[in-house]
Amino acid sequence: TGNVTLDSGFVNTAACTSAITFIDGDTGILRYRGYPIEQLAEQSTYLETAYLLIYGELPSADEMASFDAKIRRHTLLHEDLKAFFNGFPRDAHPMPVLSSAVSALSTFYQDSLDPFDQDQVEISTYRLLAKLPTIAAYAYKKSMGQPFLYPDNHLSLTENFLRMTFGFPAEPYELDPTIVKGLDLLLLLHADHEQNCSTSTVRLVGSSHANLFASISAGINALFGPLHGGANQQVLEMLAQVKNSGESPKDFMMHVKNKETKQKLMGFGHRVYKNYDPRASIIKQTADDILGRLGVDDPLLDIAMELEEIALGDDYFVERRLYPNVDFYTGLIYKAMGFPTKMFTVLFALGRLPGWIAQWREMIEDPATKIGRPRQVYIGEGARDYVAIDQR
Ligand code: CMC
Repeated sequence: TGNVTLDSGFVNTAACTSAITFIDGDTGILRYRGYPIEQLAEQSTYLETAYLLIYGELPSADEMASFDAKIRRHTLLHEDLKAFFNGFPRDAHPMPVLSSAVSALSTFYQDSLDPFDQDQVEISTYRLLAKLPTIAAYAYKKSMGQPFLYPDNHLSLTENFLRMTFGFPAEPYELDPTIVKGLDLLLLLHADHEQNCSTSTVRLVGSSHANLFASISAGINALFGPLHGGANQQVLEMLAQVKNSGESPKDFMMHVKNKETKQKLMGFGHRVYKNYDPRASIIKQTADDILGRLGVDDPLLDIAMELEEIALGDDYFVERRLYPNVDFYTGLIYKAMGFPTKMFTVLFALGRLPGWIAQWREMIEDPATKIGRPRQVYIGEGARDYVAIDQR
């Protein structure tokens, strides 16, 4: 195998160069295209940040208006795609519904699948950004046995998503500004995170020149895993388990530290951050504020804060440099907004979409890109002769 080195999980191996997101995991720094996440969180919006990630610069007012208008124009799903949702079991998890519907976009837009045609990539970008919220809302509606709502293009992307998710055709939907602003912020904070598992998947699939929809669909499936985007659902289930079991957070932490139990503190630890995840700091500050404004007093928030406090003062976590990650507090906010736990990872996917698109486009445009094809270190049998079945 010559010069091949083994690096399980790509702990030390860079697979590409990228100009999109910068992370310094030791000090807890995250920047999109050079802009600190804290400034974007405070001053930008999800859609403006999507533009920044995809095109590399903050838009002028005209560029922003035109981008927004194009996305509003593409929010409808093809009527035949709507039929798709009836093919899944009523209790289907919305993540595989999401990835299947995104995969199916390749069948509805066969005229725009060429990864090297800039106009086709551009329209696929608008279609994805505009339609994923509609698909996500329909996955939710289907799981509730409720009617689908057509998008209302007077509304912003985030407003439209909330209305399609929680509204009913029979009555007007009152948008709550705290929820709109809070959800927009959470989507923005998830918008990119360099070469994480789902983004690497999007790039790897795309490196075979698979189209944008196919690549993003693969990324959604990667995100579904509990060690990645699926962690936000797991965190809430863990907090509820602690509460319902009646055991103290301290006792629960004993299971986490006991290697035999294989119980992880979900929402803690990160491959790159060996310090407080800067997204988690912003979300923690916001959680209190949003829950307060929504008038929600959730005992699970107290449990989460207690678990964090124990962890930050405990040798096990300190030695391993385990801190809360982005998923630790998000679920509590989504719950307060009215989302059921199984929608949490879908919200992560909505947030991460601009990053996946930006990274796929960067990969396709980079002349240095080759098909992703890792090597291996073979550890199987040496050469041996075939034995006839009656002699085995
Ligand atoms: N609870 C308890 N122990 C942990 C945890 C945790 N959450 N995370 C890591 N450890 C321990 C791990 O057992 C190992 O201990 P030892 O050295 O004694 O074997 C040590 O810390 C190093 O961990 P690792 O598993 O080698 O680290 P990794 O970089 O391979 O994994 C991770 C990173 C995020 C998958 C992992 O920390 C984890 O499973 N966390 C819980 C799931 C989670 O919250 N995922 C969300 C990640 S952030 C956003 C996203 O990508 O979705």
